[in-house]
Amino acid sequence: MAKITVSVIKADVGGCPGHVKVHPDLIERAEKRLGESEILEDFWVTNCGDDLELIMTHREGENSSSIHGLAWDTFEDCTSLAEKMGLYGAGQDLLTDTFSGNIKGTGLGIAEIEFEERESDPLVIFMADKTEPGAWNLPLYKIFADPFNTAGLVISPSMNEGFTFEIHDVKEARRVKFSVPEEIYDMLAILGTIGRYCVKRIWKDEVKVSVSSTERLNQIAGKYVGKDDPVCIVRAQHGFPAVGEILEPFSNPHLVGGWMRGSHNAPLMPVSFEDANPTRFDGPPRVIAAGFQLTEGELIGPHDLFDDPAFDPAREKANQMADYLRRNGPFEPHRLPSEEMEYTTLPKVQEKLKDRWEPVE
Ligand code: F6R
Ligand code: MG
Ligand code: MG
Repeated sequence: MAKITVSVIKADVGGCPGHVKVHPDLIERAEKRLGESEILEDFWVTNCGDDLELIMTHREGENSSSIHGLAWDTFEDCTSLAEKMGLYGAGQDLLTDTFSGNIKGTGLGIAEIEFEERESDPLVIFMADKTEPGAWNLPLYKIFADPFNTAGLVISPSMNEGFTFEIHDVKEARRVKFSVPEEIYDMLAILGTIGRYCVKRIWKDEVKVSVSSTERLNQIAGKYVGKDDPVCIVRAQHGFPAVGEILEPFSNPHLVGGWMRGSHNAPLMPVSFEDANPTRFDGPPRVIAAGFQLTEGELIGPHDLFDDPAFDPAREKANQMADYLRRNGPFEPHRLPSEEMEYTTLPKVQEKLKDRWEPVE
C-alpha cells in the first residue's frame, strides 16, 4: 500500500464577530466540499479561533497539486459564503486571485507529512490562533530535546539517540539541520529568535516525526495582513515521544508574538476545542490539540487533548500573565519590538514625525 500523507491546511477566510471565530456554516460548507472529493482517505474540519482548519489524509504525497487545489477550492467556496454573510475579513488569507497548482505563496498555512503507517499510529495535531510559527520552537525543543520534559530521551533505548531538527530562516528562505543532543547549544542560539527561525521538521534518521507550517503572510503579501496562525503535526509513541510528553510543554504558557494586532508578546494558552475563541484583547493566543489514531488512512478521533483539568493551572497562569502584561500597555516588551512591527502603522507614524526631529548637540 502507498504511504499515507497527513495534510493540515488552514486559512482565515472570515471571522464572526471580528477576528474571534469561524462561523459554523463555514465549517459545514468545508465539510461538504471535502466530502465530495474522491482522493481523500479521510478528513476532519475544525477551527481554532478565526482559522478554518482542514485535516486530510490521502495517498497523493506531499505537495500534491490535487490536494492543494482541493483545499484552495474549499477555501474559495467558504470565502464566497463568508462574503455573502458579511463575515469579517472574508477571504483575508487568500492572497492570490488564482491557484497555480501549489499552495506556496498563496497565503494558506500548511503542514504535510508523508510516512509509512505503523501498526498503530498515534498523532497529535496542534492548531493555534493569534500567534506565529515561532510559537512551536520552545515546545518542540522541549518535546524532542529536553529530558526534563521527555523522560523517554533518557529512559527509552529507542529514543536516546536523539533527533534531527530542520530549521527554516523564514526571512532569507534558507534552512539548516541540527543533530540533537550533540548540537543543542548552537541550535538554541538561533532558535530563540522566534520571529525569524522556525522548526519546520523533526526527523528520526530518515523518518519524519513532526512538521509545522512556517508560512509568513507578511513576507508573501509585502505588508501586514495578520499573523500566520500556525499548525503542527507530531507523531507519537513507540520510539517517538509519548502523547503526554508531547503535551507537557504546554503546562507552562510560554511567551509568543501575536495577540492584539499581531503586535504583542503574550502567553500561549492551551484550551479545549470549545474554548478556542480569543476574545480578551483579541486573545490571549490559543492552542488546541487534536489526538488521533491513524488506521489505514482513517482518522480515528479526535480526542480533545487539552480538555483536561490537568491544564487548568496553565490556563490560570496564562490569565495572570495576561493581566500583568496588559498593564504595560503600548510599552515593550508587551508591545513587540519595532522590527517585528514593520508592516503595521508604526512606519507611517515615523514617516509623519520625520520632519519634526531636530538634531541634538
Ligand atoms: C490579530 C488579529 C486581530 C486584528 C485586530 C484588528 O492576529 O487578527 O487582533 O489585528 O482585531 O483588526 P482589523 O485591522 O481587521 O480591524
Ligand atoms: Mg481574522
Ligand atoms: Mg487567526
